Amino acid sequence: MQDLLEDIAARALGAEDRGKVADYIPELAKVDPNQLGISVATADGELFSAGNAQTPFSIQSISKVFVLALALGQVGEALWKRVGREPSGQAFDSILLLEREKGIPRNPFINAGALVTTDTFLGSASPREALGALIRFIRAASDQEDIHINDAVARSELETAHRNFALAHYMRSYGNLQNSPDLVLGTYCHQCAIEMTCEQLALAGRFLLDTSDAPSLVSPVRKRRINALMMTCGHYDGSGDFAFRVGLPGKSGVGGGILVIAPGRGSVAVWSPGLNGYGNSKLGTEAMEVFARKTGWSIFG
Ligand code: DON
Repeated sequence: MQDLLEDIAARALGAEDRGKVADYIPELAKVDPNQLGISVATADGELFSAGNAQTPFSIQSISKVFVLALALGQVGEALWKRVGREPSGQAFDSILLLEREKGIPRNPFINAGALVTTDTFLGSASPREALGALIRFIRAASDQEDIHINDAVARSELETAHRNFALAHYMRSYGNLQNSPDLVLGTYCHQCAIEMTCEQLALAGRFLLDTSDAPSLVSPVRKRRINALMMTCGHYDGSGDFAFRVGLPGKSGVGGGILVIAPGRGSVAVWSPGLNGYGNSKLGTEAMEVFARKTGWSIFG
């Protein structure tokens, strides 16, 4: 495993096309694209890493996985009255389907759906309380204390979050947002601005493994369902392509991170800031393709 990860990190160093770093959040545009880290936390408790695996990066949409787990913990199945479970086939920030589907977003990983899960998780708490609970959950899942929110990134996104505000107001007009768009977006931009290293993220992902060695934070049924949603919706309109190339549930973020779960085997975090046309890490996806092929880890046998 260690040799494989070293090989993957070394290949990435030589890559000519590294994709394009997200620049619609000004603070993210400053990140050096010449980086790739990868970590694997195995189901039996080992940790392997290579490349820039100890560099903190902005987890962005990967936070939607943790918030989904927490929102389900709060309201259970009732969440599915407010958000669907189907792939959208649209970009992560698309508003297109919301009008046709009367303010019910297709799934909890596109931005509209994530705003609903954040609103649900927020409930009647303050953003500070909700974010505190979220950070505690991630620290417990990873057994790592040094995980924080980067306020500069959160503020930078909040100042430019016009599309997300549009989604929030639109859903509020259909009664599918309980809190004000200001409160929901304030919470959402801070959850996205959590910084983690590949090592921390791979360790945190173990809460979705179906093994008795992993932290028991959600029920087995819920783990399977979150994995199913990561498989079908975790890469937006690139979800089919990721399933085809990698064959494992994954969740990407515009910071260039991807969390991948190999049920029964391990949790993998890869990070490289340059993005492909779907807004998912270009080299991270390529690295996962090699990883899955070489290890044989796949949910398709
Ligand atoms: O809502 C946004 O635009 C960002 N905070 C998160 C988007 C994201 O990470 C999409 N993933 N690839």
